[in-house]
Amino acid sequence: MAARQRINRHDHRYYVEANPVVSDAEYDGLVRELKELEGRFPELQRTDSPTLRVGGQPLDGFRTVEHLRPMLSLENGYSEAEVREFDRRLARLLETDEIEYVVELKVDGVALSLVYESGRLLRAVSRGDGWRGDDVTANIRTIRTIPLAIPYAGRLEVRGEVYLTRADFARINRERLESEEPVFANPRNATAGSLKLLDSREVARRRLLFFAWAGFPEPELASHWETLEFLGRNFFPVNPNIKLVRGVGALLDACAFWAERRRQLSYETDGLVFKVNRLTVQAAVGSTSKSPRWALAYKFPAEQATTRILDILSQVGRLGTITPVAVLEPVRLAGTTVSRASLHNQDEIRRLGVRIGDRVFIEKAGEIIPQVVKVITELRTGTEREFEFPKFCPACRGPLSRAEQEVAVRCTNPGCPAQVKERILHYAGREAMDIEGLGVELVDRLVDLGLVKDAAGLYRLTPG
Ligand code: IVH
Repeated sequence: MAARQRINRHDHRYYVEANPVVSDAEYDGLVRELKELEGRFPELQRTDSPTLRVGGQPLDGFRTVEHLRPMLSLENGYSEAEVREFDRRLARLLETDEIEYVVELKVDGVALSLVYESGRLLRAVSRGDGWRGDDVTANIRTIRTIPLAIPYAGRLEVRGEVYLTRADFARINRERLESEEPVFANPRNATAGSLKLLDSREVARRRLLFFAWAGFPEPELASHWETLEFLGRNFFPVNPNIKLVRGVGALLDACAFWAERRRQLSYETDGLVFKVNRLTVQAAVGSTSKSPRWALAYKFPAEQATTRILDILSQVGRLGTITPVAVLEPVRLAGTTVSRASLHNQDEIRRLGVRIGDRVFIEKAGEIIPQVVKVITELRTGTEREFEFPKFCPACRGPLSRAEQEVAVRCTNPGCPAQVKERILHYAGREAMDIEGLGVELVDRLVDLGLVKDAAGLYRLTPG
């Protein structure tokens, strides 16, 4: 077997099955061998070469492509009553009382269509408006769980969800905070933002993943369950938490089962998807212009709370970025007490229309930062105040600037004490020098008393 095929097999064993059969060194040796070959004979490099997974030259833009069949969305249900109603409607249409369903997790990511011909990935297209999407093939090649070559030789379309684990979402946001770029509100936004990047090398660093939830081989199989099995045999990652069940009772059991357990998953799910199993039955009930009648997305109750905005402060970051932060009436949310929420920037405040004194909905985004998601304008009393974005730096009164095309507003004074403090804290932090005992209060005192002006100054301090 050629090095290319062997690497593709090893990738699947490593990334999908978590069961490698070669050492990292042996694997690296194979990749080196292939790179060397492709370097010597570039005309032999194939589109399914694993060496393309690290990303290539940035693109100028994406080509728009029409989908082979429209990418519909799903009807949502939020309660037991709505699940029962969905099943009753189908049972009436089909004149049966026990329908066979496949229960799947609704992974909170971004839908993607993959087209294969002659066993090779031909193109990957984002959902777009459901009719036409962007050709994101270069970006998708960096997702190591998506096979570039498969045994099935016919034409095949596979649809599924691109997503990020909570850990990778947190890592990406940590890095963005570090470089004072605006953070993503949730893993789905981070995934969507990653797919739109023109530089696939940057996409590779995001570590996107994929679950297949639909396949259209020609000719089609008899049921959705068999289709998922077929996808598994062809090296596609299918979520292992799928279940073939009968009757509405089993659907409701699944809702109760996953309501709590979903927190133990390494990625976010916002619900379950129930799909009629037999394809002839799916065809018989058909679709509306928006969604199929044979499927329902049951949405878990969101992790939201309401509270009041007591104040809005402007924080100055290490690189001078001014971030508005809402001070909240403390409230319990997903297991912790929350008293602050980032409002990100001026544009976000305008988008939300938020005022000091407003009652708001807040939501936990992934693991780290609580977000203000909505203002409850109905509860306004007239005493709320507009927040005025500072015209000067709140720490040093220095001038602020906003670069064109950027949302961030920055203090341009490098000697600004707030920036100096943040830089020293960053330097002393656990991920840098890890200086024990040098926390916010001590740094405040040292800078306010004029004893240090930068990290180097720490080493010039003498016992007084
Ligand atoms: S099936 C025609 N199955 O949910 C129906 N969708 O709200 C096609 N999603 O756009 C969707 N997990 O991005 C299906 N197991 C799953 C899913 C799933 C997540 C997303 C998908 C879709 C959206 C609909």
